[in-house]
Amino acid sequence: MIEKEEIFQDIDINEGDLKALKLDGMLVLPNKLKKNTIEEIKKQLKNFNKITFNDQIGSIIISENQWIDNLGLCSSTSIQVILNPSLLELADAYFGEKAVLGSCRYQKKIKTHGPLPPHSDKGPGLVVFIFLNQIDEITGSTRFIKGSHLGGIKDKLTKFKHMDTDYVDPAAFNFEYSSFAVSGGPGTILIFNQKIIHDLPKISKTGREIIWATFYPQSKAYLSDDHIFSRNILAQLSESQRSRILFDGVAKGVPFMKIGGNLSVSDTYNISNFKRLYYVTSFCIFLIVEKFRALTGI
Ligand SMILES: [Fe+2]
Repeated sequence: MIEKEEIFQDIDINEGDLKALKLDGMLVLPNKLKKNTIEEIKKQLKNFNKITFNDQIGSIIISENQWIDNLGLCSSTSIQVILNPSLLELADAYFGEKAVLGSCRYQKKIKTHGPLPPHSDKGPGLVVFIFLNQIDEITGSTRFIKGSHLGGIKDKLTKFKHMDTDYVDPAAFNFEYSSFAVSGGPGTILIFNQKIIHDLPKISKTGREIIWATFYPQSKAYLSDDHIFSRNILAQLSESQRSRILFDGVAKGVPFMKIGGNLSVSDTYNISNFKRLYYVTSFCIFLIVEKFRALTGI
């Protein structure tokens, strides 16, 4: 098992980073995690990385992505990285109050796909991506309009809405010339305000893996998703780290396992079993076609 100290040494965040995050609405900390930290995370995820069509304890497929919903069941190192003191301190300072963990998932791009249009994820939180491999324009480099989290987009919204997304008129933002595209090696950390306008150009190579977490200010803790933790992984957390998960009122007197009562990702997106089966089937066909192409060169 990896020592906690080895992870904590990886991430140092300074006052300038906080200022940049406030001003720009996003922050990239390139290549922050050590190689052995990333390898440890990948090793822990390997057993959970089985594709099924309706298994929220293992992993699920939604469209082009494979998700592990409950990292607290399988990856102590991912949880330690997300709840490391530097990130928590930054989130506390950003909100001006204690930050709590809103969600912590793993996402892998398992199919290529077209661009995601510009949008805001709304919400009062900070999103943290920990990239486990190289990020570039081929594997999936999110682009941001810096400063757009500060508002002024009401007249640029489109009619198309989703419960956690506001889509904006692409013509109102010049992504080709005025956006910032994330890039970096494995272990790069991206932090962004949920309100910032961003898009994702076409993904032409599969395999991008992300530890995807959300922090909320404690006053908005009710927005947090439920998350299942193994007792073993919770036992490895400090008192301070644990207080970010089982916030006041919920923490008192309950066992260290929280069974989900609210919506999971697939519930949020209303994915029926039939649709999940369709996603898995289409993914299998995608794999066969890719293999055929590789063999025949067509
Ligand atoms: Fe988004």
